[in-house]
Amino acid sequence: MKKTFLVISALLIGSTLSSQTKLTPKNIDKVIKEMSIEEKAKMLTGYSFGHSYWGLPTDPDPNAGAIVLGAAGNTANIERFGIPHTVMSDGPAGVNIAPKRKNDQNSYYCSGFPIGSLIASTWDTGLVYNLGTIFGNEVKEYGVDVVLGPGMNIMRNPLCGRNFEYYSEDPFVSGLIAAAIINGIQSNGVGTSPKHFAGNNQEGNRTHNNAVISQRALREIYLKGYEIMVKKSQPWTIMSSYNYINGVYTQESKDLLTTILRDEWGYKNIVITDWTGTRNTKAQVNAGNDLMMPGNAEQIKHIVDGLKDGSIKMADVDRNLKRILEYVVKTPRYMGYKYSNKPNLNAHAEKIRKAAPEGMVLLKNDDNTLPMHSKIKKVALFGHTSYKLYAGGTGSGNVNKPYVIDLLKGLDNAGMIIDDTLKTVYAKYKEYAHHEAESEMGTFTTNGYFPRPRVKEPSMGEYTYINAADRNEIAIVTVGRSSGEGCDRTFEDFNINPDEMDMLEQTYKAFHNKGKKVIVILNVGGVIETAPIQKYADAILLAWQPGMEAGNSIADVLIGKSYPSGKLTMTWPIKLTDVPSTKNFPNGFNWRDEIFKKQDDINKIPNLGETRYEEGINVGYRYFQTAGKEVSYPFGFGLGYTKFEYSDAKVQRKGDRYIATVTVKNVGNSKGKEAVQLYVTAPAGELDKPAFELKAFAKTHELQPGESQQIKMTFTNYDLASYDEKSSSFVTDKGTYIARFAASAADIRQNVEFKVSAGIVKCHDVMK
Ligand code: BGC
Repeated sequence: MKKTFLVISALLIGSTLSSQTKLTPKNIDKVIKEMSIEEKAKMLTGYSFGHSYWGLPTDPDPNAGAIVLGAAGNTANIERFGIPHTVMSDGPAGVNIAPKRKNDQNSYYCSGFPIGSLIASTWDTGLVYNLGTIFGNEVKEYGVDVVLGPGMNIMRNPLCGRNFEYYSEDPFVSGLIAAAIINGIQSNGVGTSPKHFAGNNQEGNRTHNNAVISQRALREIYLKGYEIMVKKSQPWTIMSSYNYINGVYTQESKDLLTTILRDEWGYKNIVITDWTGTRNTKAQVNAGNDLMMPGNAEQIKHIVDGLKDGSIKMADVDRNLKRILEYVVKTPRYMGYKYSNKPNLNAHAEKIRKAAPEGMVLLKNDDNTLPMHSKIKKVALFGHTSYKLYAGGTGSGNVNKPYVIDLLKGLDNAGMIIDDTLKTVYAKYKEYAHHEAESEMGTFTTNGYFPRPRVKEPSMGEYTYINAADRNEIAIVTVGRSSGEGCDRTFEDFNINPDEMDMLEQTYKAFHNKGKKVIVILNVGGVIETAPIQKYADAILLAWQPGMEAGNSIADVLIGKSYPSGKLTMTWPIKLTDVPSTKNFPNGFNWRDEIFKKQDDINKIPNLGETRYEEGINVGYRYFQTAGKEVSYPFGFGLGYTKFEYSDAKVQRKGDRYIATVTVKNVGNSKGKEAVQLYVTAPAGELDKPAFELKAFAKTHELQPGESQQIKMTFTNYDLASYDEKSSSFVTDKGTYIARFAASAADIRQNVEFKVSAGIVKCHDVMK
């Protein structure tokens, strides 16, 4: 009897369980209807398990339930509906997870891709898409559902500590490059989270900074890149930023997250918060900030209480929840994908090695110093960064890479013989200097969170240089900078300092006295002063921070196995004070200092509490080219190992699209690729406009000497519009425009006039 009862109860329980609705793409509304308010609240918040860079690489709290160790966080699960956790991990230069796990012999290193600035400097959306596909493969094979990138804030000022993660001072470049990498990553069936939406253009007081931005600058500069990206790629998620814009936290801004993002641009997916940026929960839910990451118990309580007392609307919660569940059903984790934890890192390394030169920018190359003559073998290698390259930046944008090929190794692989005496000197110095730098930074640095402060170059005395010039055939000098999340850079970090000047001057003098050349490599994540370097270098190669294959990629360029075909996506000013935003930018005050101060005190400091974007739309080349102000290197600039001629430029109209074509011919002696830029000058109208603005770009395929290619670039009537604050609309003036086919913003090759009819796109009068 007892036994029969047990069997019947078991059957009953079983049938209740199996009749429970399990989430499918088709029954989302039903699942929402069946959820308790506590469950709904839980789904709107997530979890975090300590990032790999916060020092929890091998020993997590066993109760924490990290699915992929070192990932930035998980979304919530509800077993009874079959809703799994999904995993979100940083970051823009590769999957940022812990490389080792306790009691596990395997390793979980991820490819270190080149930083965002290098990727954008390729000006090649096809190549960026392809890199995205292998990046996305690692996301998927390591069991991650969403990678928290790309970073796409505008490079308003060279000192922003996270510029290395970002793409450009120009929204067209940012938007198109971001869309390309997102489409590449997402082609694997995993998600992305372009960030930080929006106005997070400085690290100083990033969590509480109020960015005061005019309507026009917001629409044309700081939101435009996101608009282009959303329309061209529909990322699975978008990360809202920490800061305020015009007095409202972006995470609480319905104007930004619903009116503009969804109603105007047609975004369909979820918005997630930047990490631990807890704000007013009610405002966040209402704004359409669907998912709080990582979220906490207090926020769950706020939602539950708010639903009970009516201060949070059920319709808003259900709307956000629906978007979250629509996201969940797309994820590999929901689909039960069996990830391998073994992406083919070697194959990826080969592709990264080949791609990086395409974003390296040759800034100077007198007398064809580069590529180096094949007879040159003996190299004097100066600069401590030559012996320990920066492959990427720090903070969440860091990646635990299996290795980094430094320049010494790269040159060695390329068959160069590196001067032994200098090797010994730098090996000793490196030990001392990096130890000093680490101790100055405290414990965080050992986990790679904060950027290392600049390490001075050793002072070596005249004869070290003279003797090195005797022994070697050429000198290579590396100037390096590290930067990262939480800290803006300083004037010192931008400038070339006396110790560096000494190294550059002495090298140049010693080698030139012997008729030998000097190559300078810039291993930086952001813009630095270059005017003083120009005098002491025969060639300057901006190698950026090129990822784990750094030394190999650079050596390939030096010896001519690859060629540089990158161009600058930001202006390189002569002095920092030439940049209009510098007067309204924090000079180096950063998180390290902030944690020792009270928030209220920080908020009183100019450009920390509030930053006034007084320069309006005059950012980067829009300012420099219009004002005719001299620069070190203009936007769009980059030499190669060959030369190109432009001819036969035309603009044709097809409906509301314009098709611009130009023939590009390789007129030099080596193969190469050319990034062609199309700037447009508008006729005089009611609004003041820059001399010209970038409206399209394209890169040729590899052209052999003598070979030509017709390049096609398209843009629309809407792309030509400026934002009119009076009517809250994007207005395209009627009239005759000039299309400028250019090799850089300062090197316009062909001009073509074309007629445009008037256009107007009404926007909402919001975010004031
Ligand atoms: C950063 C984000 C990052 C997140 C998760 C935040 O501090 O600003 O870029 O994705 O942490 O690590």
